[in-house]
Amino acid sequence: MTNNKQVRIICGTANPPLGEAVARKLNVPLCNTEIRRFSDGEIFVQINENIRGANVFIMQPTNPPADNILELLMLIEASRRSSAKNITAVIPYYGYARADRKERPRVSITARLIADLLMIAGANRVITMDLHAAQIQGFFAIPVDHLYSSILFDDYLHRISTKDMVVVSPDVGSIKVARAFAKTMKAGLAIIDKRRPVQNEAEVVNIIGEVVGRDVILRDDMIDTGGTLCKAAYALKDHGCGNIFACAAHGVLSGEALERLDKSPIEKVIISDTIDNSKRNLSDKFVVLSCADIFAEAIDRIEADASVSMMFKD
Ligand code: R5P
Repeated sequence: MTNNKQVRIICGTANPPLGEAVARKLNVPLCNTEIRRFSDGEIFVQINENIRGANVFIMQPTNPPADNILELLMLIEASRRSSAKNITAVIPYYGYARADRKERPRVSITARLIADLLMIAGANRVITMDLHAAQIQGFFAIPVDHLYSSILFDDYLHRISTKDMVVVSPDVGSIKVARAFAKTMKAGLAIIDKRRPVQNEAEVVNIIGEVVGRDVILRDDMIDTGGTLCKAAYALKDHGCGNIFACAAHGVLSGEALERLDKSPIEKVIISDTIDNSKRNLSDKFVVLSCADIFAEAIDRIEADASVSMMFKD
């Protein structure tokens, strides 16, 4: 992108390396922004440049702590009050996406609440990646550009792919993504019938599909505690599969996830940098691929009024 004075990239504190990489690729300097905490923990944000009439892209994943969400809302609101022309919330990882329906009585549909908050704050558009459920787009009354991480994993996995590979969806929720991925990889598809007896605990009930003697790619949208992938990997090994690789866009990696995945029979865990894990001690088992190119291209296309879906055509 030529250095267009009307485009500003603002980066919150949740994932500065990704924000900087996107700004670099677009050849636009990061907007001078001050973000700090008061002594009681409250957040202060100030945009130290004139952004009147600008198209502002605010980069911030909304993984915990919840301060990340509040910071994003405050940056949007500050941009609106500064007379920005268009405000796009670029949310590489959309947190609380699993709270997307009333699956039991008297619960909050937090994914919807956050959509409302983003719109009330002043966002005109959202760019995000690998939503836990694509229909979350419908929670917004503004355009949502939903990007896919698969193009990121294709190259890496093609290099390690073997003749008789099978893509395994670790639960029914990920079937659509896994099926599309299996098509690109020219691999078979299998599905794990997973139950959650309690929150954050996964249990494999059944494996649907042929995995015996075949190398496996477990494809999920996110890795939180690692329970889903590890339980799936042990069950697949018990069923006599070959090497296991796992990939997911979002490495939340909470609780015991790192130790659990390290001990598991998974050969490589391939994630993207939608969430900043650069300061964590990831073992050699982890491969982190950057999605900066995908976000930069999407922003470039939006600025040029070009199609974003064409990026994922093949
Ligand atoms: C669930 O529906 C998601 O697609 C993931 O499989 C899940 O959130 C991963 O969580 P965990 O790593 O804690 O099992």
